[in-house]
Amino acid sequence: MKRWPAMTAGGGRRVTRNDYGAVARIRQASFILTPMPFEFRTIIEPFRIKSVEPIRFSSPDEREQALRRTGYNLFGLRSEDVLIDLLTDSGTGAMSAEQWAGMMRGDESYAGSRSFFRFERAVRDLTGFRHVIPTHQGRAAERILFGEAVRQGGVVPNNTHFDTTRANVEHDGATALDLVIAEGLQPSFDHPFKGNMDVGRLDETLAAERDRVPLVMVTVTNNSGGGQPVSMENLRAVRAVCDRYDVPLFLDACRFAENAWFIKQREPGFDARSPEEIAREMFSLADGATFSAKKDGLANIGGFLAMNDDDLAARCRNNLILTEGFPTYGGLAGYDLEAIAVGLREVLDEDYLRYRIRSVEYLWEKVAAAGVPCVSPPGGHAVYVDAKTLLPQIPPSQYPAHALAIELFRAGGIRTVEIGSVMFGRVHDDGTEDPAAMELVRLAIPRRVYTQSHIDYVAEVIASIVPRAAELRGYAITSQSKYLRHFTAQFEQL
Ligand code: F0G
Repeated sequence: MKRWPAMTAGGGRRVTRNDYGAVARIRQASFILTPMPFEFRTIIEPFRIKSVEPIRFSSPDEREQALRRTGYNLFGLRSEDVLIDLLTDSGTGAMSAEQWAGMMRGDESYAGSRSFFRFERAVRDLTGFRHVIPTHQGRAAERILFGEAVRQGGVVPNNTHFDTTRANVEHDGATALDLVIAEGLQPSFDHPFKGNMDVGRLDETLAAERDRVPLVMVTVTNNSGGGQPVSMENLRAVRAVCDRYDVPLFLDACRFAENAWFIKQREPGFDARSPEEIAREMFSLADGATFSAKKDGLANIGGFLAMNDDDLAARCRNNLILTEGFPTYGGLAGYDLEAIAVGLREVLDEDYLRYRIRSVEYLWEKVAAAGVPCVSPPGGHAVYVDAKTLLPQIPPSQYPAHALAIELFRAGGIRTVEIGSVMFGRVHDDGTEDPAAMELVRLAIPRRVYTQSHIDYVAEVIASIVPRAAELRGYAITSQSKYLRHFTAQFEQL
């Protein structure tokens, strides 16, 4: 295993120049890094910009009004109120000229379209799964899979369920059990594969409750735990446990390419292998996958459910027809299927992945250098600020990560998302609440959208909040829904 250095947020490393390359040199010295393949060290965006979309500058007054109007819920904002939108990396990427060209080839036949077969071939080549079922996005694949496989009283282990995954499991009356390794729950603890599943606890769970477990899931990368990767070694170990108890293993594969890149960088024996080969091996260890093409599909919409089990696939297809559409389009247009087929190839390009992971590291370094505690090391698609540590005066019951997310918008028009007790707090029938494991603010970087100066601006806004962090106050929820409350809850400032 590569030596993994002790590294704490801010850890004394100074970022001295504002180009990717200067920071890269610091990373090289400290060993963690995205390696520099070329004579020159600045990692540039591996594309030119052909089409631009203006963004609107807003005044602090306008932003304050917008916050009031939305009940202090950032999901309620209009996008034109937002200057830099880091709410999500999902469906927000820029498509390539090849993808747009593919869209013109879209075959919109209701049944048996050429676009479906191109899509199916792209997914099969990558995953090896026999059955490829298109869906309009990831959660539709989850709903169909769990609807067919999960029963009342069931238990679904995962490294960490994402919000929609958890909600879909719970909606079917089952328990969503998070079994990430202990290191994965300590924001400042450095570990190369913090998304790994705790294989011992998985084994114990299956030993005790095998009959209640319809399938095991592993989320790559582990979004709710900081966008952290899962190692091949861990996937193999999970596979072995699943084999021992004869339980199917599914990947929640939204960010499979970013995970493959981390394996290439960090896991012994993989540095000479291509991201594509690594991704294939990851999928070969599973019996199926749910996928949101809005992330590593480089598309604005789409997803799939794929598997080898003939009987389960037949049931899922029937469910699909009822709710999403015929199995050769699954709620998507033919042109969407084309965009995904091209995207799945482009996302595994090494120049793209190097730039992608490096640009997230770059923001992480600037934020950490400003003294802001972050989940460490940086994730694949986002920087996660540890609001519990930054705002110790706000208890989890007053949602410190929400308070910080609101402040980022107020100060600089930056929209982020809370991944803390608003999203994952457990509300009991008597109204009391258990807090989430961590209080994080996620700055998710859309793919191929923002340039280095946008990211520099974000870092500057965050740094401006640090000196007055102790003055920030918490929030109370004034109304909420039963499932996925973070999307619509209303808040008041305390
Ligand atoms: N699984 C993971 C790990 C995700 O991150 C998401 C979506 C989904 C499943 C659901 O996919 O949105 O296409 O239905 N994550 C987005 C996010 C929404 O912002 O992280 P979807």
